[in-house]
Amino acid sequence: MKILVTGCRGQLGQELYRQIEARKQAREEFHLLASDVDTLDITDAIQVENMVKREKPDVIINTAAYTKVDACETDEQTAFRVNALGARNLAVAAYNIGAKILQVSTDYVFDGTGNTPLREYDPVNPQSVYGKSKALGEQLVMTTNPRHFILRTAWLYGEGSNFVRTILKLAAERDELKVINDQVGTPTSTVDLARCILDLIQTEHYGIYHGTCQGECTWYQFAKRILALKGIKIKVKPVSTEELNLPAKRPAYSVLENFMLDMVGLDRFRRWEEALAEYLRGE
Ligand SMILES: NC(=O)c1ccc[n+]([C@@H]2O[C@H](COP(=O)([O-])OP(=O)(O)OC[C@H]3O[C@@H](n4cnc5c(N)ncnc54)[C@H](OP(=O)(O)O)[C@@H]3O)[C@@H](O)[C@H]2O)c1
Repeated sequence: MKILVTGCRGQLGQELYRQIEARKQAREEFHLLASDVDTLDITDAIQVENMVKREKPDVIINTAAYTKVDACETDEQTAFRVNALGARNLAVAAYNIGAKILQVSTDYVFDGTGNTPLREYDPVNPQSVYGKSKALGEQLVMTTNPRHFILRTAWLYGEGSNFVRTILKLAAERDELKVINDQVGTPTSTVDLARCILDLIQTEHYGIYHGTCQGECTWYQFAKRILALKGIKIKVKPVSTEELNLPAKRPAYSVLENFMLDMVGLDRFRRWEEALAEYLRGE
């Protein structure tokens, strides 16, 4: 199976690269075409079309995105160009050669006003520019290529800058940390997510999926767990979203239930605490 991965220098892209190489060693039939913005700018429809026609991948995994949630508020053009049109360019190019597309999406497509885990059929209602651009990306992929997997995930950490590394860095610099305690979600390791993606693309179970680790917590509880696992003793103060006054509105409750993954027998995500402990052993 020939796999084109976009955004390969990002957190998820790097983990996909690692796992595809490992599976190749195990003699699984994977051939990887790794790209990032310098080799394949997904906003350039002609470049995308030419590369896909030339390389003829069986599947495109789109991890490329403009992920700076607050910056999206003041740079709508880039957000929609990358997260919506970029996704469409890939889906159309894949369609033209009969290839599959897996589009990675986000819990930020929901408004987060509920208090029970969200399923794939729940209505989206994004509140930020980032969420709106990702929601449009989902729609454009779904309407242009029937061979699609839309995989929504949340609170990702892996290789690259992420919440876990930020907490460890700040803990080394400060005496006290302030962390939001009124947003609930699920920290998700790129290890579990990449494994899920590589399982899913080998099937024809097209559709929308939620894919996060199991369980839920607030950012404050997440930070406390990171520090406890590293044996770091520092004061952590719970604060409200309002107090931090960030530009982009975030969902208050965006726990995703892996309902459809479970239905197709592909939910292999671990508890978030277990995946985090493994990650921190390497940090
Ligand atoms: N991080 C999270 O907490 C989270 C949560 C839910 C969903 N997601 C979704 O999960 C996916 C992977 O996230 P991630 O954390 O791995 O993101 P990431 O680390 O920010 O990586 C995204 C990659 O895409 C590249 N990129 C940006 N614009 C591009 C373009 N026009 N053409 C090609 N590549 C481009 C980036 O390059 P530069 O760095 O040079 O810009 C970067 O290497 C994204 O779809 C994201 O929306 C992430």
